[in-house]
Amino acid sequence: MRASGQLVARVLAEVRRLCVPGMTTFELNQTAEKMIRDAGAKPTFKGYHGYPFTLCTSVNEQIVHGFPSRYQLRSGDIISIDCGATLDGFVGDSAITVPVGKVNQDRLRLIEIAIECLERAILECRIGRRLGDLGWAVQSHAEANGYGVVRDHVGHGVGRKMHEDPQVPNYGKPGKGSEFKPGYVIAVEPMLNMGTHLTKTLKDGWTVVTQDGLPSVHVEHTVAITEEGPDVLTRPVVTTNENVSHISTVLAETMVSA
Ligand code: MF3
Ligand code: CO
Repeated sequence: MRASGQLVARVLAEVRRLCVPGMTTFELNQTAEKMIRDAGAKPTFKGYHGYPFTLCTSVNEQIVHGFPSRYQLRSGDIISIDCGATLDGFVGDSAITVPVGKVNQDRLRLIEIAIECLERAILECRIGRRLGDLGWAVQSHAEANGYGVVRDHVGHGVGRKMHEDPQVPNYGKPGKGSEFKPGYVIAVEPMLNMGTHLTKTLKDGWTVVTQDGLPSVHVEHTVAITEEGPDVLTRPVVTTNENVSHISTVLAETMVSA
């Protein structure tokens, strides 16, 4: 699963660079799809329950499952990009939220806290910890900062299929829920709203938006639970020259959570 995870990491690193004003979300989708196919992999989302694209691109008040389109990114937007790839039979699933151009402090703060929530959740991915510990790690940090935690959509086990047991909610009670065992692999994906946690789905049947129209942030990693602790399979690892330009991005994300 590390190979599919790292492919998704490379795709997101490349697509992140393309998140500039004027770029369409469909162009992001096409770049991602080409990279995935060139690597001998398949875009996991495309065709999944009829989902038509390689990426989910969710802008501003869109929470998840936004359709790539002719929409041109504008300075001040924030965009969640969710990508899945299947390589040698295994799925990697990860999402980032990227600020476009000059973004206001409130929105940057929402992104920062969402990344911190994800990192706190990852720290709970240990043998003997429970789903409720992970959920609480996200919920407590988000709510302490005044944000709504989406309940209508959750993380999930991931492996040969994208959605496996268990469901991984971003809320819960410490010490509750099933216990993590060695070898579990889960997609941890907090969704934080600036305002209410309530959601609705648009008429396209997919795009999930906030009920109050305020912005939302979604970030996700595929995490293996091992004897040595959490192993983040979709964390970008610098192994080649072409990745080096992304070191600063990775460091910046890690430092936010340090
Ligand atoms: N990361 C998302 C999820 O885990 C992606 C699914 S989009 C879909 O639910 F279109 F494939 F469903
Ligand atoms: Co997922």
